[in-house]
Amino acid sequence: MGLQKKIKLAVLASGSGSNLQSIIDQCQQGQLDAEIVLVISNNPAAGALERAKHAGIDAICINHRKFASREEFDQAVVAKLQDVGTELVVLAGFMRLISAIFLQAFPQRIINIHPALLPAFPGLHVQLKAIEYGAKFSGCTVHLVDGGVDTGPIIAQAVVPIFAEDSESTLAARILEQEHKIYPQVIQWFAEERVIIDGRKVQIHGHKAIDSVLINPPIAEI
Ligand code: GAR
Repeated sequence: MGLQKKIKLAVLASGSGSNLQSIIDQCQQGQLDAEIVLVISNNPAAGALERAKHAGIDAICINHRKFASREEFDQAVVAKLQDVGTELVVLAGFMRLISAIFLQAFPQRIINIHPALLPAFPGLHVQLKAIEYGAKFSGCTVHLVDGGVDTGPIIAQAVVPIFAEDSESTLAARILEQEHKIYPQVIQWFAEERVIIDGRKVQIHGHKAIDSVLINPPIAEI
């Protein structure tokens, strides 16, 4: 960190923007070789816009309701992203599907964070779905965006336990804590050009996979 050229990020967010905040904070602390050149929200009321402005980052709303089609909205977003020289598009709670126009403009350079262990529980309200399913673990996934819903190649995942007493909000908070750790780390790997994409398989140059297991409920060592 430090000597690396800074990667130019654009962050797209529809909601409160806590993931955006974790990226802003790590950039400000010099922990990321990254610069947020623009924040875009489709939602005029998004907390993410306020967080960006507070940090002195350019932030705009492009309201999808003002466009006749998904393609026209995406075209407007892509034009702004290209204007500011975006190198990596970071979806952080961006609640819109991405069309082919958008994907073709930034091939393998759009990443998303999802609050479940994909491919389990794609889509919406996934913390509640994991609880209701009776899963023992959930977590979060950072993945490349492709044409499907939460289907792109997986870059990194963090696992958290699900407790019997969990509500949607307690599980969401436990997962968010990990989101705020793994998303900045993945961005740093992109900045360092260590993300190696081979079809569905993504490796981080110089990193080996974890070699421990988690069992829930825990069992005695035999
Ligand atoms: C996060 O939990 C993120 O994983 C999720 O929305 C939340 C946004 O929180 N994204 C999705 O569900 C995308 N399908 P934030 O606005 O506080 O970063």
